[in-house]
Amino acid sequence: MRRLLFTLAGTSGVRGLQSAVIGPRIFMGPRALNTLVGMGKTICRNNRVLIITDKIVKPNAEKVKEIFSNAGYHVEMWDEVQPEPPVENIFAGVEAVKNSDASLIIAIGGGSVIDATKVIWLLYERPDVDFRKLSPVDSLGLRKKALFAAIPTTAGTGSEATSAAVITEGGHKMSLSHPEFVPDFAILDPNFTVSLPPNLTLWTGVDALAHAVGAYLSGWANEYTDAYALQAIKLIFKFLPRVVADGRDLEARQKMLIAANLAGLAFSNAAPGIDHALGHTLGKKFGLHHGLCVGAFLPYVFEFYAKHLTKTDELAKALGFGKGEEFLNSLVEFYKKLGFSFKFSDYPQVSEEAFKQALPELVSWALIDPVSILSPIPVTPKDYEEIFVASLYGTLKGGVR
Ligand SMILES: [Fe+2]
Repeated sequence: MRRLLFTLAGTSGVRGLQSAVIGPRIFMGPRALNTLVGMGKTICRNNRVLIITDKIVKPNAEKVKEIFSNAGYHVEMWDEVQPEPPVENIFAGVEAVKNSDASLIIAIGGGSVIDATKVIWLLYERPDVDFRKLSPVDSLGLRKKALFAAIPTTAGTGSEATSAAVITEGGHKMSLSHPEFVPDFAILDPNFTVSLPPNLTLWTGVDALAHAVGAYLSGWANEYTDAYALQAIKLIFKFLPRVVADGRDLEARQKMLIAANLAGLAFSNAAPGIDHALGHTLGKKFGLHHGLCVGAFLPYVFEFYAKHLTKTDELAKALGFGKGEEFLNSLVEFYKKLGFSFKFSDYPQVSEEAFKQALPELVSWALIDPVSILSPIPVTPKDYEEIFVASLYGTLKGGVR
């Protein structure tokens, strides 16, 4: 029943009556950080800055620290964020930062760092809140102590634009969402993404593509999120091949940062597609990268949606294709050109036997992922089983409108 109510609440006919579109202030380009340095002096309550990052991107964080220190700020750094941050890691972060008295918190990193910072920031501001019981409709009153800036070092998660934070507890992913999690500032500077290797550039890029397509086809979409999503898809089709081929192509890096940000704005104000429920589950089970998983599920999910939603044709038409089927064909061609396989048996981490054995567990986990509740079409165990099996063998069955 809860599932059906969510689906009903998300229909555009209902939601279109009252919607908010929320995003950060966005500064783009190689001098974007300077704007934040200047602005911080007038809008922050003191000159204390706290940087949260991880060991991999620490060299980037050191540069930011130097820029703020040279401008007269007192800067502290916590660099212990772990990938897919477990709750224990979050609590360690809160312990490290609770006495900082920072009035500006800056997350520098990929999705894990920015997501972890959202929850650390929440507990810095509101130590009394139980994040496990967080409700998006309750007011938290954040920003009493600190404003929040995010500097992405990947062009994929769009976390610098979103209300979402994914952390891990007991081996399972926990998806948190609150409108007050949306950072105050997003710094889109391509110099922070140039050192990202080609495989991560590819996987984070297809994550952004899945965000954009999923948001467009979401029952929670509106005119704003449609515009963000379409522009993101156009940019990704044009510039992802360039950044994968040459990571030092600054123009293409900048465009991909904008695309991922647009896609983040789109899905944060609408919802991601069920490729995220399937990808969260499979990625956790077999230790595969988030973007790889959701990007690989995207063609199967598009095919599934196309059997039920006319908006797949609208998407295709808006991008210059005739029908949904043509978009799906071009997506498959795009993946081929990028050298990206959407057949999981191609990945050494996934054996056919282990996949089949895990199938019932995968289906039940995916069904309870919050993204499944937001699906534009109520999904059944059989639907998920079919998509999982198709993704193992790389079979797109047809039936697209
Ligand atoms: Fe994602």
